[in-house]
Amino acid sequence: MVHNDSVTDAAREIESGSAADETTGPESSDAPAVSAVETPWWKSAIFYQIYPRSFADSSGDGVGDLPGVVEKLGYLELLGVDALWLSPVMRSPMADHGYDVSDPRDIDPLFGGIEAMDTLIEEAHARSIRVTMDLVPNHTSDQHRWFVEALAAAPGSAARDRYIFRDGRGADGGEPPNNWPSIFGGPAWTRITEPDGSPGQWYMHIFAPEQPDLNWENEEIFADLQETLRFWLDRGVDGFRIDVAHGMAKPEGLPDMDDDQRTGLLINDDDDPRFNNPGVHAIHRRIRSVLDEYPDAVTVGEIWVRDNARFAEYVRPDELHLGFNFRLAETDFDADSIRSAIENSLAAVESVGGNPTWTLSNHDIEREVTRYGNGDQSRGLARARAMILVELALPGTVFLYNGSELGLPNVDLPDEALQDPVWERSGHTERGRDGCRVPLPWEGTEPPFGFSTAAETWLPMPAQWSELTAERQLEDVDSTLSLYRMAIELRKTRPEFRGTDIQWYGAPAGCLAFRRALGRLTCAVNTTDEPVGLPEGEVLLASAPLIDGMLAADAAAWLV
Ligand code: GLC
Repeated sequence: MVHNDSVTDAAREIESGSAADETTGPESSDAPAVSAVETPWWKSAIFYQIYPRSFADSSGDGVGDLPGVVEKLGYLELLGVDALWLSPVMRSPMADHGYDVSDPRDIDPLFGGIEAMDTLIEEAHARSIRVTMDLVPNHTSDQHRWFVEALAAAPGSAARDRYIFRDGRGADGGEPPNNWPSIFGGPAWTRITEPDGSPGQWYMHIFAPEQPDLNWENEEIFADLQETLRFWLDRGVDGFRIDVAHGMAKPEGLPDMDDDQRTGLLINDDDDPRFNNPGVHAIHRRIRSVLDEYPDAVTVGEIWVRDNARFAEYVRPDELHLGFNFRLAETDFDADSIRSAIENSLAAVESVGGNPTWTLSNHDIEREVTRYGNGDQSRGLARARAMILVELALPGTVFLYNGSELGLPNVDLPDEALQDPVWERSGHTERGRDGCRVPLPWEGTEPPFGFSTAAETWLPMPAQWSELTAERQLEDVDSTLSLYRMAIELRKTRPEFRGTDIQWYGAPAGCLAFRRALGRLTCAVNTTDEPVGLPEGEVLLASAPLIDGMLAADAAAWLV
């Protein structure tokens, strides 16, 4: 619940008095728990997203793997994260680096096979780190047994009905069934050749042609997903990140899109008929009914829906446990925008009693250092350091993307290094997402910085990253890694972080301050170019040294 503040103070100092509308008092949800029901672990957890190709390579082939993750568990424990989210590690031909799954109940040999997953679960649990996996229910790989069967079968057959096959438009069926573009560029339909050699039906793929969309109206699809959920949960997995959780259901009749909706790649708006169709909620309820058999397990959905009321529908008590809210990741480093992102993220779950989530970046988004820098990397880093204090001061679940704790920027990769299918599909007009997926620098002074023993890594690593290795940053108390470690430890141990409500303080233009209503931690942020006075209190942590007791430009501080 968000409380509104009074109008901004004219003074260039963040108000140090009481929060503006304290009379409202803390919400009852902040009262000591009366019931014996324990708060689920994930409500305030810090998740760490591992992009497995890029985290740590133990086999020496230049691609990260699960034994590599096991080797780094000590590091993750030191960082202080509660849970891992592994981007897909299931069997896959890797057309979209694992988001094209050919067998959802096996681990790809590239990542170490199923034994490696069992070891990871066991070793992570021994360190009290939970393990969640990416699940891709919207589509399969074109090499999934089902799709191979569908291609060999006749139009109208049961095998074709698992996917979305349609006859083409036009006299000879040579036009796609509707005008939908693929998120990765080109049409969302590919025409097949029938088994007898004649030009045939078209199948839908909202993403790459190697990722055919499943027909969620076919009962077999859920029956199989249910099996997959139980398969991993029974092996000890603690939950799932659900890929394209606002996809899956398609609108009746597959109507054309309006021309103004057929714009950029990798994005969708709320009225896009490819996503957020009401039928998706019945699917989430069915998934939830399986998850409820495993009371500690959690689901978090990838939901690119901006309208708060529509977003809320996904996190109703019988649907997803959590939904990614991307507002903070889409917000500039600007006090008003940050505040509005926070208010909207809280409002988006409030009406249904959902838990807020916070994320600054992931494997699909430009890294925050680059995003906030607008060409000035050191400024971008200062701002990213400020924003991690904002994120970790907020009540709810936090998702960190691997490498953000090292302050990694995006990398400008040469054309020939690019691997994201978006690059090819867009006819080389969109560079895609490889720039945020470059392997992590661990140690030493030259690429591949301990990531791998191979001379060539799947994406090249910049030589300048010698400054950013984990080894180097662990020894430096002023490093971004040290800032993350301190902030996470404070968040986990200090009583000031208690409670689920925040209150806003009045703050001068370009500044922002809020307080945890129950614990009374204050977070102050300065997005201006000048130092600004701090509210009263003891500074617990700051993202940059204070300047004569003032909060530096592009900085944030925690006070108690
Ligand atoms: C999600 C993933 C993205 C992937 C796409 C298709 O948006 O985050 O990386 O390409 O789904 O599965």
